[in-house]
Amino acid sequence: LDKKVRQNNWEEGNFINYQKMSENLSIVRQRLNNRPLTFAEKILYSHLDDPHNQEIERGVSYLKLRPDRVACQDATAQMAILQFMSAGMDSVANPATVHCDHLIEAQQGGPKDLARANEINKEVYDFLSSACAKYNIGFWKAGSGIIHQIILENYAFPGGLLIGTDSHTPNAGGLGMCAIGVGGADAVDVMANLPWELKAPKVIGVKLTGEMSGWTSPKDIILKVAGILTVKGGTGAIVEYHGPGVDGISATGMGTICNMGAEIGATTSLFPFNDRMHEYLAATKRTAIGDFARDYAKDLKEDEGAEYDQLIEVNLSELEPHINGPFTPDLATPISKFSEAVKENGWPEDLKVGLIGSCTNSSYEDMSRGASIARDALNHGIKAKSIFTVTPGSEQIRATIERDGQLATFEEFGGTVLANACGPCIGQWDRKDVPKGTKNSILSSFNRNFTSRNDGNPATHSFVTSPDLVVAMTIAGSLHFNPLTDTLKDKDGKEFRLQAPSGDALPSKGYDPGQDTYQAPPKDRSSVSVMVSPTSERLQVLSPFEAWDGKDATDIPILIKAQGKTTTDHISMAGPWLKYRGHLDNISNNMLIGAINSDNGEANKVENFTTGEYDAVPAVARDYKAKGIKWVVVGDWNYGEGSSREHAALEPRHLGGLAIITRSFARIHETNLKKQGMLPLTFIEPADYDKMKPDDRVDIMCTELAVGKPITMKVHPKNGESFEVKLAHTFNEPQIEWFKNGSALNTMAKANA
Ligand code: F3S
Repeated sequence: LDKKVRQNNWEEGNFINYQKMSENLSIVRQRLNNRPLTFAEKILYSHLDDPHNQEIERGVSYLKLRPDRVACQDATAQMAILQFMSAGMDSVANPATVHCDHLIEAQQGGPKDLARANEINKEVYDFLSSACAKYNIGFWKAGSGIIHQIILENYAFPGGLLIGTDSHTPNAGGLGMCAIGVGGADAVDVMANLPWELKAPKVIGVKLTGEMSGWTSPKDIILKVAGILTVKGGTGAIVEYHGPGVDGISATGMGTICNMGAEIGATTSLFPFNDRMHEYLAATKRTAIGDFARDYAKDLKEDEGAEYDQLIEVNLSELEPHINGPFTPDLATPISKFSEAVKENGWPEDLKVGLIGSCTNSSYEDMSRGASIARDALNHGIKAKSIFTVTPGSEQIRATIERDGQLATFEEFGGTVLANACGPCIGQWDRKDVPKGTKNSILSSFNRNFTSRNDGNPATHSFVTSPDLVVAMTIAGSLHFNPLTDTLKDKDGKEFRLQAPSGDALPSKGYDPGQDTYQAPPKDRSSVSVMVSPTSERLQVLSPFEAWDGKDATDIPILIKAQGKTTTDHISMAGPWLKYRGHLDNISNNMLIGAINSDNGEANKVENFTTGEYDAVPAVARDYKAKGIKWVVVGDWNYGEGSSREHAALEPRHLGGLAIITRSFARIHETNLKKQGMLPLTFIEPADYDKMKPDDRVDIMCTELAVGKPITMKVHPKNGESFEVKLAHTFNEPQIEWFKNGSALNTMAKANA
């Protein structure tokens, strides 16, 4: 295990460290009395920062981990890199890549859409490419493909640990990598060499038996599992596939299953290392990695007798193709019952658009099978009735299917080939065929189908399924068509039945890499300067937050006493605001605009105590800041639940907030607040929340901040007697330094100075 095998073909000095992983694992095994371990546990424990002392209890402990890599897509990379810059380091501490895929709108087809995106997003792309060059990050230009496909083709390796700033990062589980979707703040930690924290996940086992055939494809496994577990069922768990059925699935098919595992809330999904993965590694010019994995193979799968917190069994021989939706990916209907369900629920019967590809389903196998169905139709003199689009997951896939003819088949069939990017999957779709508000149905091979996601039209019924079914139903143009049992009419009106799809898992002539779309960091990075225009509306270099002044804060106002649910969406709304995610001052204009003021039951209307007038929350905060007045927020239960969006913590800090005082916090948001130098505090007596009035003034005894000790808040009501409230916190010693220095990044910058 002490071989030197590179992590990938792009980076010189980054090696796979099975030796170290194996050592870590034996330390943990001993501590756990050699109980059998799941594969998921093996990967996590072999990446522990401190295997000797780490507390380990599934579903309870917080593991401090050392991931092998970080990957960011272009939307989330902006703030992550801006933050990293302020840590004062000259290189990322761990291998990292950035992928331009989210900002390309589908309109006319690949080349034109890409050219337009390069123009519209020029300043963002220039910033990312120059920052990547400066800080030693691999940069994949717009047009290279979708982050998860590029990771699978180039960077994933069995037993590795990757974090990525996108929810479908688990796609790399198709190569036995533990790949977890995170927020930008986590990416910054790993780039800056802090250990990364994850609550030790529970493990759900999915045992696969039997063998797929006919119209059933890997996608149907996850469509079925999503139906069983629902969108919440995987929360806090890693889904681990195993059993004899696994070996019948291609590596890219396993990728599809892991990718869509994000829809059941799972931390990630995983397949054990096998020959199918070795074949894929070989086909993508990484035989050395496949061979090395064989040396370490016994720890690249579960131990015999490993225990799962929950076990599901799926017999692939009996598995039917499924269609999930509309509006939620867990409403699973087998194809044999689908037509009936369409009638019963009154779903629009006409299929307006069929979309294949995306990060979920654009492997060579997917494209070949889809093309075999399209060819079958063409041989009968018919084409797609619905609008049909193809989104290749990467330039390599696009070039390979162009060479091998599948692309030409799709075009002949009536399809439009879109850019190698997210496009309609993330709403980057200038859809023209149906006016907004009109009820209609679309069918895609994507993973997520929440209301409005694809085209911004809440009346669009979006269903997800395998690429096979998308192509077949596109021919019929109807949701009632079942290709397994129903016939179509050929050009002469003669009835025929489509043949079941077929296609190679890997290209027999090898992959064609297509155009070179990768930018390696230069050898000499010292002269590179990061490109950010001072007048930009979308990007702003961050200045470090001020350090704590060492004093208690006295007589400060409550900006808002929020009532009920206050999620990260209420604190920092998405939608149109996403455009400003690289510009802290501009995006701060959305701070807390969704939170409900307990004073008047309204959103975004609070009293400015210095003027007595009501105004928008960000406006009042800005006024306080301009007048040198710190402020606090009072919140209810589970404040900050939802996503890990770091903007929800950056914004209150930027606009002069000192503390957020709640009945309880969602843990990730609480940690994010600490990282930005804020004080997240909780009422020891939850009923004290009710005693607070929005126009009270408070003193926060910051000087009392010490591990495990409460902090006193003195409350001065407008009319009435002052009283004291005790507040709890969860700061540890290093985190207290974050508060004192003004932020975690200031602390790192200090250490690096
Ligand atoms: Fe992109 Fe959709 Fe995948 S947004 S990363 S193609 S889930």
